[in-house]
Amino acid sequence: MLSTMNTVELSQYGRRSTVPSPVARMMSAFSSGFRDGVDINLGVGYVNEATIPTARVLEATAEVLTAPDRFRQPLNYGGPTGSLPLKAAIRRYWIANAVGGVTEAHLEGRQVIIGLSGATSLLFAVAQVMEPGIVVMGDPMYYIYTNVLRRRGFEILAIGEDDQGPRADLLEAELERLGERAAMIRYFYLVTVSNPTGTICTTARKAAWIDAARRLSQRLGRQVPVIVDRAYEDLLHDPDVRPPASGLTLDGDGLVYEVSTLSKIVAPGLRIGYMIAPDGPFLRAIVQASSDMGFSASPALQSMAASLLDRHVAEQVRAVNAGYRERALRAGEAIDTLLGDVLERRTGGQAGFYYYLTFRDVQTHDQSPLFRFLSRTTGDPAVDGPAENLKPRVVYIPGEICVDPGGRLVEIGKRQMRLSYGYEDPARVAEGLRLIREGVQYARH
Ligand SMILES: Cc1ncc(COP(=O)(O)O)c(C=O)c1O
Repeated sequence: MLSTMNTVELSQYGRRSTVPSPVARMMSAFSSGFRDGVDINLGVGYVNEATIPTARVLEATAEVLTAPDRFRQPLNYGGPTGSLPLKAAIRRYWIANAVGGVTEAHLEGRQVIIGLSGATSLLFAVAQVMEPGIVVMGDPMYYIYTNVLRRRGFEILAIGEDDQGPRADLLEAELERLGERAAMIRYFYLVTVSNPTGTICTTARKAAWIDAARRLSQRLGRQVPVIVDRAYEDLLHDPDVRPPASGLTLDGDGLVYEVSTLSKIVAPGLRIGYMIAPDGPFLRAIVQASSDMGFSASPALQSMAASLLDRHVAEQVRAVNAGYRERALRAGEAIDTLLGDVLERRTGGQAGFYYYLTFRDVQTHDQSPLFRFLSRTTGDPAVDGPAENLKPRVVYIPGEICVDPGGRLVEIGKRQMRLSYGYEDPARVAEGLRLIREGVQYARH
């Protein structure tokens, strides 16, 4: 028999990590009993399976394993900053497609580094090499990273957004209000297509945040970096929106550390994320932290990613975006038809694969009648169906999880939800929305 004595002494981060985050709890509750073809998942951030170029991945695998002159030792250990072919392919991709208006000149003097496992590991490394303090970001916020930061002991300063991105006037006011405590600010975290709201941060708004960081850096006598997370920016599919400029083009002071990923445009399972940033102690510490956790991203997967980028990226990005455009339009129409009269606001649908809904008077949090209806936990068999064969369930992300718990959006967050149109087929998304409509009626009575 193993002893159940639990005397392992954990760090503060370790202690905080023993309790799964609210969203991890919710997701595991759903996924444990998730019934494919019955339950409808509008909650996960999974990409659409049909966008993943499986046949090309297979080709790239064969190429990587049989071209030792181009891909050196793909099944051996790799270097901490990433594989040379991948770093070169990323540069070519940015220049050839003028991603965010970036030119050769913007990349000069900047490094590309590959994270251990996606953008996630780079964001973690940033939090790892900084002393805990204050991180400034938009609100609603990317709840997964926010949860990491809190466990690492960081405080979040959350700035509300409008249709241009996180507000610059509120940022100024909050920095002012902080007074001397502004010295606790470690970095700004700017997500350029918001997860959860889908709001696209405009060039002007990015520039305003970078300028605020520059002025704060001057005031504090040290650099306050801006970590720009452009995870969904390659998925800008609304033809009426002009792609915003990359933070790299707006940064004369070496404050911008731009984080990108191949998860959304190629495949999350490759786990390829990268950062483009000026060389220096901060970047070197991020590289070392990545290396400490696992040396490098898989050299084989990096080589495959390099081959995929060089051969197919432009066409892949076009195809993926065409698919999401179609889905966004269909989901948007279904939302308007089925929920238009009960919504106060709807954002998203122009980039990435989320809509963010604000209901006028219906609560969405995990104790609400709507949530219980959709998770079939009302306790009423007429609503839930028989215990052994529950009626279809619908998963969504409650707004409550996405907003700063101490911030101004707490109340409105209880009437908001993030819906993904990425994962389920459009017909299933529409079916999910019909069930949400039924749930709204149930909640109102
Ligand atoms: C805003 C944001 N940043 C980063 C990531 C993680 O990207 P990766 O798969 O490269 O770790 C996500 C994933 O959904 C995201 O939404």
